[in-house]
Amino acid sequence: MAQERWQVSEAAASNYERVNVPGFFAAWASELLKRAALQSGERVLDVACGTGIVARGAVEQVGEGGVVTGVDLNVGMLTEAAKHVPAGFRIEWREADATELPCGDAAFDVVLCQQGVQFFPEKALAVAEMHRVLASDGRVVVSVWRGLEHNAFPAIQSEALARHLGAEFGTMMAAPFAYGDAGTFAALFRSAGFRDVKVEAVELTPTQSREPERVAEKFLALPMAETIAKMPDAARQAMIEDILSAIPGNPSDPAVLAPTSAHILTARR
Ligand SMILES: C[S@@+](CC[C@H](N)C(=O)[O-])C[C@H]1O[C@@H](n2cnc3c(N)ncnc32)[C@H](O)[C@@H]1O
Repeated sequence: MAQERWQVSEAAASNYERVNVPGFFAAWASELLKRAALQSGERVLDVACGTGIVARGAVEQVGEGGVVTGVDLNVGMLTEAAKHVPAGFRIEWREADATELPCGDAAFDVVLCQQGVQFFPEKALAVAEMHRVLASDGRVVVSVWRGLEHNAFPAIQSEALARHLGAEFGTMMAAPFAYGDAGTFAALFRSAGFRDVKVEAVELTPTQSREPERVAEKFLALPMAETIAKMPDAARQAMIEDILSAIPGNPSDPAVLAPTSAHILTARR
């Protein structure tokens, strides 16, 4: 169950912030925030906030008169998030499940959620909660990854994990990319009563280093980090080499372009 919810350990939470946020989740957070078009003074909720990259972008945009709250069920993520609040700003961090938001009715103007919905076992309940806490005419902006066919590097990682550790690890790696159908995503929000529901396919192309250490460190921030750390060195090295050989392009190039793609949904209450 913990794995279904994509839970990482406390150590993995700080690795997530160090390895995955700069240049990757940060770039995706900018895409989300661009579509939210936050106004000074607005009240914003970041659901499944993780280490808080969306919330801290939001707090600078809504300014001192605004309110930003981040909710996540992983206390390790929230502890890490609290270390990165921009100087002079305040964000309230709350430990809770997305299906039971610790917030009053109509308490927010905007609900944001970056790469969280695919992990909620009860998606309809979580989306009903987003609807409940939004003020009339409030906005929601939510992203989920498209399928592995649009996210080449995690596809390579998933195949390597399945080969070297077993099918269940391949499936675990694929879980974030298993909610890639735009129609299903839109219907989830329409059924909860949202209107003007639009789903946009967005692609960003960060670079992926070919250095074995950089490839290996990508695993440090994943729920299976501890299992991988316990692999015998030779076995782990063989898995990394397998990944390196599957990365397309010229092996002597230091880095490769690694296209990633997500659906970003916007809607109104
Ligand atoms: C891939 S991370 C995304 C974190 C953050 N939004 C970001 O963009 O960096 C997924 C997050 O969803 C959280 N999560 C998973 N299931 C949840 C649930 N039912 N309620 C609240 N948070 C949940 C996890 O703890 C994790 O922090």
